[in-house]
This record gives sequence, C-alpha cells and structure tokens, in this order.
Amino acid sequence: MQIVILPTADDVADYGAQLFIRQLTKHPQSVLGLATGSTPLALYRLLIHACQQQQVSFARARTFNLDEYLGLAAEHPQSYRYFMQQHLFNAIDILPENTAVPDGSAADPVAACQQYEQQIAAAGGIDLQLLGLGRNGHIGFNEPSSGLRSRTRIKTLTPATIADNARFFQPDEYQPHLSLTMGIGTILDARKVLLLATGANKANAVQAMIEGPLTAACPASALQLHQHAIVVLDEAAAAQLADIEFYRHIERENQALLHRLANQ
Ligand code: GLP
Repeated sequence: MQIVILPTADDVADYGAQLFIRQLTKHPQSVLGLATGSTPLALYRLLIHACQQQQVSFARARTFNLDEYLGLAAEHPQSYRYFMQQHLFNAIDILPENTAVPDGSAADPVAACQQYEQQIAAAGGIDLQLLGLGRNGHIGFNEPSSGLRSRTRIKTLTPATIADNARFFQPDEYQPHLSLTMGIGTILDARKVLLLATGANKANAVQAMIEGPLTAACPASALQLHQHAIVVLDEAAAAQLADIEFYRHIERENQALLHRLANQ
C-alpha cells in the first residue's frame, strides 16, 4: 500500500484528480471504476473543470460504478446512477453508453450482478478503481463479513451504514436496506486502486485498514493484498495511525526517488 498523507481534504481531491488525469492522458481508452458518497465529490468537480478546460477527455473512456441500491430506479434522486449523472457524467464528454452502474431496478438482480461481472471482463477489466471508505471499513457496499474474494452480488446493509446514509433521504422516504455491489474480489482485480478518506470520522477505519489484520471484519483491509493500492488521507483521517511518521518518511523517499529518476 502506498500511503499518502496530505494536509486537507482539498489536497486529497487534487491528488486523486491528478491521478485520473494522468491515467486518461496516457491511456484515453481507460476503464475507470467510480464511487459515490461525499468523499469523491470534490475530485469529480476537479475532473469536470479539467474536462471543460480541455485538459482531459473521457470521450474514449468507460466507467463502472461500484454499487447501487436495490429497488431504486435510475431516475430516483437517491439512486447512485442519478448521483453520477448529477455530479459527473452530465458535465463531461463521456458517451452515456460507456457508463455502467449496477441496475437497481433489474427484474432479476442476481442475473444483473453476473452480467455486470461479464461486462467488466468484456471491457478488459478495470484500470483504475476509485474507492471511498465506510466508517465500518466497508468498500463499495461490502459490509463487514463480506467474503474477501466475493464478486458482484446483492448485499444487506448494516444498521450503521443505513444510519450513515439516512442523511441523503427525506425522513418519510423509503431507504433501501439492500444493495448491488462489486465484490471485494472484483475490486482486487482492478489494476490500480485509489482509496480516498477524509475527516476524523474515518480515522478508526483507516487505522484498521492499514495497520489491522487482514480480516473480513474490515473489508478495506483486503487492499493489503493489492499490488498497486494508493491510500490518500487528510490529516484528520490519518490521526489514529500508529506509524504515521514512518509512512510520511516512505512517501518522502518515494518522491525523492521519482525526482532523481525524472532528472537522469
Ligand atoms: C457509501 C458507499 C461507499 C462510500 C461510503 C463512504 O455507503 N456505498 O462506496 O465509499 O459509503 O461515504 P462517504 O464518502 O459519504 O463518507
């Protein structure tokens, strides 16, 4: 795991956006894995700006989102499809047919999950997967106890996740308790993974993900198995890390090495 600790949440968004821009500049036909939640919003705003300034194009890219609520149609304002349209897709030059979000209103959601896996495989796999982090250590909607090699499937949400996401729903609005989510195995298959976490309420999950044991009790700890996982944190989210100075030291060494190689 590469651990990058930056002063503020804005710095985290900027770092993430630069990574996406570099990926698309090098490989315009990249397959991108995308996430919802509050954390990626600032990154999406930066990508929209870069696209409008013609610094990056999504015209040849494809995207696959991590998850969706089961029972919400694409037009539902709380669906993750709707979120993606509002916060990214409608404002960039991506072709609508090249964006995929699990289908929350599929007549046969079990089959829809299998098809989603087939679609990802047919696209050649995911080049760069963006992740947020749940307070309970979930990635996508892979709640604690999720199989570490799981594939896209239906998952029951924990009461803690339902409570965390209740802020997006009206008090009298139906809030789904089930989801369709890429599995942990699906996420681990991505060639590169970028997890962003900001704010003090993520600090315990961040500590468990990086310094805890590899365990289904903290699904994000599965990233310890990934060969190219980058975790970008602000100071508040990094605050519970025991070895924080060591991670800063490694990152300074990494940057110095990159600088030396670039100047050779
Ligand atoms: C949601 C999503 C996750 C997201 C997480 C954190 O439930 N399914 O993909 O990463 O919770 O959300 P936030 O970024 O709003 O803290």
